[in-house]
Amino acid sequence: MLKARGDLEDALSVFDAALALAPEWPDAHFARAETLAEAGDTLAAREGYAAYLRFADADVMGAEARLALLGAAPTPASLPAAYVRTLFDQYAERFDEALLTRLEYRAPYQLRAAFDKAAPLAAASLRVLDLGCGTGLAGEAFRDRASWLAGVDLSPGMVAAARRKRLYDSLAVEEAVTALAARPAAYDLVVAADVLVYIGDLAPLFRAARHALAAGGYICVSTERADAGDYSLGRGCRYAHGRPYIERLAAETGFEVVLHEDAVCRQEAGVDVPSRIAVLRAGACSEAEAHEADAGDIEREQRHAFQADIAGAAPLPRQQPEHDDGGH
Ligand SMILES: C[S@@+](CC[C@H](N)C(=O)[O-])C[C@H]1O[C@@H](n2cnc3c(N)ncnc32)[C@H](O)[C@@H]1O
Repeated sequence: MLKARGDLEDALSVFDAALALAPEWPDAHFARAETLAEAGDTLAAREGYAAYLRFADADVMGAEARLALLGAAPTPASLPAAYVRTLFDQYAERFDEALLTRLEYRAPYQLRAAFDKAAPLAAASLRVLDLGCGTGLAGEAFRDRASWLAGVDLSPGMVAAARRKRLYDSLAVEEAVTALAARPAAYDLVVAADVLVYIGDLAPLFRAARHALAAGGYICVSTERADAGDYSLGRGCRYAHGRPYIERLAAETGFEVVLHEDAVCRQEAGVDVPSRIAVLRAGACSEAEAHEADAGDIEREQRHAFQADIAGAAPLPRQQPEHDDGGH
């Protein structure tokens, strides 16, 4: 809500007094910059955000993104992990109520419906990774399709809330791309509900997702809709992505676009947020699978060399993904 002019001036004089005493106090610089931006003093606001970045250990407040929104810095490729973690740690306890009731959030159920429609022949029981799992809303929506349900999220507070629901077979506090890159060909389905809005450049995530998926596996994502360009950062510090961008990246990283539809996944201040739902299918053999196949060939040759009488091993039971910590 916009503050009255007098309130803005009062706030500024409080921040000025604080900074006179502690000129390197990052939070005071940030709060002062926010007040200046609200008052329309863009130049002074930019200086305030830049001062915050000079004195803060990490960009917990998202000042770089604010500078980009004021045209004083390029659009960052993603939001800083420290910012996302802090935002959601603060939000975790009231997330479900706020999202489901006030924001009419429905991405998890829309992704589930889209997956059922796009992949009617997918196996009934899948190894599923809920990327940016938050409190577990997407986990709830996909649980009955999962033989193994893993969740990863940057925010320990959100992971703790998800853990309390006792839905997941494993949960970890981990960054999405890092988590995917560490688990080659480990999943049949990756779900990212309202997560790509915190990442602008999706190339690393798509590449890592292809690496983490078995051939023929799926990734279901929701995005906010940009009608021009690859991606842009909106006033709420959330990214929107263009349809051609998503489809080009999908092709470049080894996915087939099975479904890509306009949707409304949530509201903001009572207004529908234009969104999209996509279901992408992993094509033939990723690098990870090729390596696994090579390793398998070498292992087989060695076995044959040493045990010429063994005609062929029985197929191994399906392995659970490695690195999971056990969610209950
Ligand atoms: C809006 S919430 C959505 C949570 C959940 N997917 C749902 O549908 O309810 C976004 C979640 O993504 C997480 N997140 C954002 N960027 C991430 C990243 N790069 N790696 C891991 N988690 C991330 C946040 O911490 C937050 O919990």
